[in-house]
Amino acid sequence: MCGIIAYTGFRRAAPILLDGLRMLEYRGYDSSGVYIAGDGVYRALGPVDNLVQKIPVDVQGTAGIGHTRWATHGQPSEQNAHPHHDQQGGLWVVHNGIIENYAELRAELVAEGHTFISETDTEVLAHLIGMRYEETGDLATGLVRALERVRGTYGIAVMADDLPDTILTARMGSPIAIGVKDGEYFVASDAAPLIRHTQQILYLEEGEYAVITSEGYDVFSFTHERQHRSPELLDLPLDVVEKGGHPHFMLKEIMEVPDVLENSARGRLLLKEGSAKLGGLEDQVPFLRTVDRVVIVGCGSAYYAGLVGKLLIEDLAGIPVTVELGSEYRHRPHRVVGTTALVVVSQSGETADSLACVREAKRMGVKTIGIVNVVGSSIARETDMGVYNHAGPELGVASTKAYVSQLEALMLFALFLGRLRGLSVAQGAGLVCELMRLPEKVRDILAHRDKIQHIAEEYLGYDDFLFIGRSYNFGTAYEGALKLKEVAYVHAEGYGAGEMKHGPIAMIDEIFPTVAIMPSDSMYEKMRSNVEEIRARKGRVLAIATEGNTEILALADDVLYIPDTKEALTPILATIPLQLFAYYTGVLRGFNVDRPRNLAKSVTVE
Ligand code: G6P
Repeated sequence: MCGIIAYTGFRRAAPILLDGLRMLEYRGYDSSGVYIAGDGVYRALGPVDNLVQKIPVDVQGTAGIGHTRWATHGQPSEQNAHPHHDQQGGLWVVHNGIIENYAELRAELVAEGHTFISETDTEVLAHLIGMRYEETGDLATGLVRALERVRGTYGIAVMADDLPDTILTARMGSPIAIGVKDGEYFVASDAAPLIRHTQQILYLEEGEYAVITSEGYDVFSFTHERQHRSPELLDLPLDVVEKGGHPHFMLKEIMEVPDVLENSARGRLLLKEGSAKLGGLEDQVPFLRTVDRVVIVGCGSAYYAGLVGKLLIEDLAGIPVTVELGSEYRHRPHRVVGTTALVVVSQSGETADSLACVREAKRMGVKTIGIVNVVGSSIARETDMGVYNHAGPELGVASTKAYVSQLEALMLFALFLGRLRGLSVAQGAGLVCELMRLPEKVRDILAHRDKIQHIAEEYLGYDDFLFIGRSYNFGTAYEGALKLKEVAYVHAEGYGAGEMKHGPIAMIDEIFPTVAIMPSDSMYEKMRSNVEEIRARKGRVLAIATEGNTEILALADDVLYIPDTKEALTPILATIPLQLFAYYTGVLRGFNVDRPRNLAKSVTVE
């Protein structure tokens, strides 16, 4: 949450910072601001476009810092927008994270005569750093002294009026990427805004800071020991951060799903062995053979992917699995029984609650496995082993291609585990074969997206929806409802179809439609009965069904077809029409589906 950016070099900083902030808007967009050395500070409420209007075209400074905010302390306002300055007004800070003891620090500083302009925790940090800088005469020493007093999480960039070419950046709990180019250096909360300029990226580790000028950079530990770290080549195609002719990132990213499925399976499908090749697990085989309990944790869509992952692991590997919300699991006591593995599903690899679960599990001696998309993220680095999703950067706030890639990665993981634990080569090969066909099947669904748009128009007048599914598509029902809530602000409830009679059916009438996910699988008959029950109560039904099922035309009011596939893979296909349904509904209702209100993609606060 919140995105920070910084630049020092020989070009005008303003356009670089603004462009970078636009790429970081998915992390928050209630206000933004920049400080440009020699020019001053500019802030605006609302999206980065509002900030652009405020910056004079003749701003010439060649170094600066910027921020796009998701409010934690203090409502969205220009006053609360970063950068914040210290008591003297000459030191500037942008911050991603939360200073937990800010109230105590603020009270101390007020007692010493400090005055605060904003309600933010960041302003307290700026005052502390400014004070220590003044005392020590050295910005790096002052920074570390100030950070010693701070509890919480931060990724920060700091500049001072009297060091116009210098940026200091530090990390504790919030990611910092440094982009390196000849005579130019960049800092950002992730690599996406940097790759237009350079693919040479270095990630700060926890408890490190860097001193950057247009002449070079140095990385140090908080104990001031120099760290000899070199940037790595990211090698990402540039078009991953462009809309590529699509009106929104969300649509572009849904359209990318076939490529994502190919990328996440590339080199990993072993047809003859009926298994998956997963480099991140190979040397953990002896441990994985002994696992007798799996706990999957995640938040948001990652949690729903976990619900599918549970069935995959139980069915293919025969290991009992529980699925937990990161925000619940981390706060409960746990008794470790037998050999447990904790699987953490996270697109960003930075979600605070999921990361806390990793740390809690490690404290108990439980081995952790990451199913993560962002390479080098905190969860990817802190887990004992893992499987990368290879979905590429996802910029739409609502998870689409990343969610599908989580399902794919969980399938590969379950297959790998299954083949160590009695899954036959024929069963494995059957799934591998079908995984190879999936990208084509998704292309087929995408080719009929006009039909989905038409259905979204048909259902535009409804304010409430029920999404139901069973077994493998229990999680799909929740994910479909979540998408509609997130991008179209429509009340939608995901529910297990079997549970419907225990409550939700009371709400059903002509103005409360149901989306029933009912592919032709082992649950079809039961789903059909549930749909009959809804129809008997005058509820309108939109069914997601398997091609070739003609009886459904008489049963449901509307049908969106998906190609036939194995039951365990139906969530991958059934999710696509639901994502497109939410997308078109959001667009038709006039909302910015890439930047839904109040949301942020990377939830780095609890
Ligand atoms: C936020 C995002 C969701 C995402 C969830 C978990 O709520 O808007 O799209 O599913 O966080 O994020 P993670 O990065 O851990 O998958």
